[in-house]
Amino acid sequence: MNPLKHVAIIMDGNGRWGLKYKNSRNAGHKEGVNTVQKIIKASVRNNIKYLTLYAFSTENWRRPKKEIDYLFNLLEEFLLNKIESLHKQNIKLKILGSKKFSSKLNKLLNRSEKKTSKNTKLQINLALNYGSKSELMNAFKKIKKNRERINEKNLGKNLQTRGIPDPDLLIRTGNTKRLSNFLLWQLAYSEIFFEKKLWPAFNEKDYNKIIKEYRNIKRNFGNI
Ligand code: IPE
Ligand code: IPE
Ligand code: MG
Repeated sequence: MNPLKHVAIIMDGNGRWGLKYKNSRNAGHKEGVNTVQKIIKASVRNNIKYLTLYAFSTENWRRPKKEIDYLFNLLEEFLLNKIESLHKQNIKLKILGSKKFSSKLNKLLNRSEKKTSKNTKLQINLALNYGSKSELMNAFKKIKKNRERINEKNLGKNLQTRGIPDPDLLIRTGNTKRLSNFLLWQLAYSEIFFEKKLWPAFNEKDYNKIIKEYRNIKRNFGNI
């Protein structure tokens, strides 16, 4: 049975779910937050140590302002309402990506990270304004600036995921098979599951089914 420390998820399909059932993309984003809560609980139950959630990519700024504003309001509401409860559950929050938001949201993110920084049960990495290419470019620039050697170890420690083991498992919901600029370096040997269901429809049962399947895969890492 494969150990499972780190699950990464591309939470895709909110807009399509919202349009289909509520005639509004934003309604899908709202429903998506419920799935986030379910999957956090299920991750704790599965004793997973790191859960990395792709919430907003560097490319998502291309969307209409109305949708972007709605998404960041949802995030703000989620943090204001849930950070206390996450903290009580011994859950740590870390933001991946560059925090270039309103000063109000930046402060809230920093406060939430600081408050939960010592927690040990589960670490949630929330990828917000995250793009893997920009993360890699920044890492190379830092290596150059610090006159470090270019090797895997130094690259790893200059990425935002420093200290975090690579994902064992990547799940993308929403029936689309691409990485969309997510963790390109870190996913080198992850087991990848593309799930047909849209993110708001994804549930603990679906998650556990994938985990069960993952546990039985023969992971070779180049060996035989
Ligand atoms: C993913 O759902 C959530 C974000 C990118 C914020 P989408 O909004 O991409 O949903 P679809 O893919 O359009 O259905
Ligand atoms: C990927 O979903 C980003 C997030 C889930 C945050 P997108 O819906 O933005 O991906 P593309 O644009 O279809 O590749
Ligand atoms: Mg999408």
